[in-house]
Amino acid sequence: MNYLPSTERYEQMKYRRCGLSGIKLPAVSLGLWHNFGHVDNKDEIREILFAAFDAGITHFDLANNYGPPPGSAEENFGKILNADFVSYRDEMIISTKAGYLMWPGPYGDFGSRKYMISSLDQSLRRMGIDYVDIFYHHRPDPETPLEESMMALDHAVRSGKALYAGISNYPPERTREAAAILKSLGTPCLIHQPKYSMLVRDPEDGLLSVLEEEGIGCIPFSPLAQGLLTEKYLQGIPEGSRADKSHGFLKKHQITPELIKRISGLNEMAKERGQSLAQMSLSWLLKDSRVTSVLIGASSVNQLHDSLGSLENIEFSREELDKIENLLKI
Ligand SMILES: NC(=O)c1ccc[n+]([C@@H]2O[C@H](COP(=O)([O-])OP(=O)(O)OC[C@H]3O[C@@H](n4cnc5c(N)ncnc54)[C@H](OP(=O)(O)O)[C@@H]3O)[C@@H](O)[C@H]2O)c1
Repeated sequence: MNYLPSTERYEQMKYRRCGLSGIKLPAVSLGLWHNFGHVDNKDEIREILFAAFDAGITHFDLANNYGPPPGSAEENFGKILNADFVSYRDEMIISTKAGYLMWPGPYGDFGSRKYMISSLDQSLRRMGIDYVDIFYHHRPDPETPLEESMMALDHAVRSGKALYAGISNYPPERTREAAAILKSLGTPCLIHQPKYSMLVRDPEDGLLSVLEEEGIGCIPFSPLAQGLLTEKYLQGIPEGSRADKSHGFLKKHQITPELIKRISGLNEMAKERGQSLAQMSLSWLLKDSRVTSVLIGASSVNQLHDSLGSLENIEFSREELDKIENLLKI
């Protein structure tokens, strides 16, 4: 049976303007880094995508290398999109990226124009679509001139293969330089995707201010620190969790007793606020108006629904914010 999205989908979600652009993104966006590859369950993938769209999540984030194997998340997303979603394409913001190793040889990694444009062409073919909404340079390249990588983004937009340009993992000064080049080319930088959560605070050291000054949106990735900022690991490492999977990027050694102590404290505090820890962690990011959207992952529909509950309370008192900082210092 054909998928029919909920008619109430736009009433449930909050949409926030992306920097100074014309685009609004859902406060919660869905990323397909883990859980959407050929190693994952196809029925679960479909259910999560449908549940996300039903809840007003219009933004789906991919990259050339998401899987495993690399490329398979784009293939799976494309298949489902073309089978069930294609009439809603204009209601979606689909992003992809190039910047990490994708194929062997000197042209399958980093930030040359050769790599970035070929990669985007491959991504479009895998997804079976004519354009992506956002094309990102996935990480800075220490060797390629910044102008070349930014000209590749500009070319992607001018050729109609992407509607907007974004950057990810760029530090503050490099972000400013990239934004200036893109502006001079006539393709403003729409958005920056940094790693940001209660546990990873680097964007507070200058990046968020640069983004605000330059009118660029911010979409933090791994806002739950890959699942650490949930109740999941409080009693050990559950079977099938990301830390349990050989291909998961969260490693067992990262889950230390000190970290679990901090997470337990945060979990108690979340309960006092009437939230799950996942919800409090997402609300904590969304309290900052410079954050356009939080880019979550999910391995089940239940997780997705739990995370969406964060939107019910994104206000924090001064005392609560101080308490969080103290709990993180334990
Ligand atoms: N630009 C970049 O360099 C970059 C890098 C990384 C990620 N990203 C983007 O950011 C997206 C999100 O990253 P992420 O998957 O690391 O995000 P995350 O939201 O920090 O972690 C997602 C994981 O947390 C667990 N989880 C999620 N919601 C939960 C809930 N309500 N209760 C309990 N556990 C929950 C699940 O783990 P289990 O699988 O164990 O159930 C899920 O797979 C990616 O898909 C990608 O689009 C970008």
